[in-house]
Amino acid sequence: MSNERIVINGGKTLYGSVSVHGAKNAVLPLLAAALLTRDEVVIENCPYITDVENMIGLLRDLGADVERDGRNVSVCGRISRTQASGSLCSTMRSSMFMLGAVLSLTGEVELPMPGGCDIGARPLDIHIDGLKKMGASTEYTQGGIRCSAQKLHGADIVMRYPSVGATENLLMCASLAEGYTSLVNCAREPEIVALAKMLKSMGARISGEGTSVIRVQGVEKLSGTRFRADGDRIVAGTVVAATAACGGDVTLYGVSADDMRSVLQAFRSDVCRIEESGVAIRVRSNGHVRAKSVITAPYPLFPTDMQPQFIACQCFSGGISRVEETVFENRLGHVSQLRKMGADIAVSGDCAIVRGKQNGMIPSVLTASDLRGGAGLCVACLKVDGQSSIYNPHYIDRGYEKIEDLFCSLGADVRRTDK
Ligand code: UD1
Repeated sequence: MSNERIVINGGKTLYGSVSVHGAKNAVLPLLAAALLTRDEVVIENCPYITDVENMIGLLRDLGADVERDGRNVSVCGRISRTQASGSLCSTMRSSMFMLGAVLSLTGEVELPMPGGCDIGARPLDIHIDGLKKMGASTEYTQGGIRCSAQKLHGADIVMRYPSVGATENLLMCASLAEGYTSLVNCAREPEIVALAKMLKSMGARISGEGTSVIRVQGVEKLSGTRFRADGDRIVAGTVVAATAACGGDVTLYGVSADDMRSVLQAFRSDVCRIEESGVAIRVRSNGHVRAKSVITAPYPLFPTDMQPQFIACQCFSGGISRVEETVFENRLGHVSQLRKMGADIAVSGDCAIVRGKQNGMIPSVLTASDLRGGAGLCVACLKVDGQSSIYNPHYIDRGYEKIEDLFCSLGADVRRTDK
């Protein structure tokens, strides 16, 4: 195991402001969608995180010409291969977007099964069902999947669950398919609205994004565009969680409070004031945490990607909180690590009951086992007096641009070392 770790001397209150970097979950499908034209597509506000770097690697591997100029990434989607390489696909779930993008363009695609965080089985059946309805044939190969289609055609597709990735994949396919597609029971996340907006700016004919029914009239060709990704609502939410726990006064720029309604609601209390202006979200907390309960669910309800940070915060409340995870079946890996710090958390199925402790949590040596779980551990370590370490920070680097710099800029004592 690598010795690399994040070392946190916790117990500091957080003060200052943060300009939140671009959203991982927006940028990844936007990069994939850039393949849908041979013209240049420039995506602005791309964060320096490993998932984005790996996605750029994957596009290059398929033959696209990709250049990064600071936070702007330009893609000229001239694909020369239809088989994606195993090592890049196994690092991230978003290689699944190649199914829609490459199939639409070339009529075939072969992928190893997408990797990513180990938080549940994460099957692809909803993606595959939709692609089949649009005329694709699919077969599972040894360790992967192959899809082909002479020409994709429009279809009436009802998804059995509002999967974010499947909605995005099918939206890309439908944009270039022959005829009309209706997608029912779509995910409604802001990242889907962003993808639809970019596709529309490329010439796609889409309506209904942000609702559960999206209609698409296929077009023959898409053209180049320039599009800016919004700030990352989960990174912003992580800062809200840390400020609620540690106390302080932090202002966030670059994210929309409307996109974070359920998260702000979950952290807001008489001792954690959250104010919104048109351009900023200000969090003022006295460092006491009120016990609250949440159930994770598709947008606009409480996001599963904020569940670990919420549980971490609740470990310090003066009461009992119930957290139910309904999106992924194996997303409580951080609980065992929080228990090392003295947290009292009982797990039954997908439900965690947290008995918060205002005193008695202790600094510890922890190991991250997934991206958001790792962020949750950071929140707990920032709050606890004394020195904690978090091993496996590479998980956190998948979605946070130097998380140590983010919290240092707010007055925390955080550093990375491999000594
Ligand atoms: C996206 C986000 C991820 C977030 C998740 C849920 C990106 C790059 N990632 O992941 O950060 O945690 O949404 O908000 O945007 N499912 C199936 N069959 C399928 C597809 C999904 O059973 O074909 C299940 C999954 O196993 C999971 C649930 O549906 O239990 C939600 O998955 P989905 O919405 O597809 O998540 P992702 O798109 O993978």
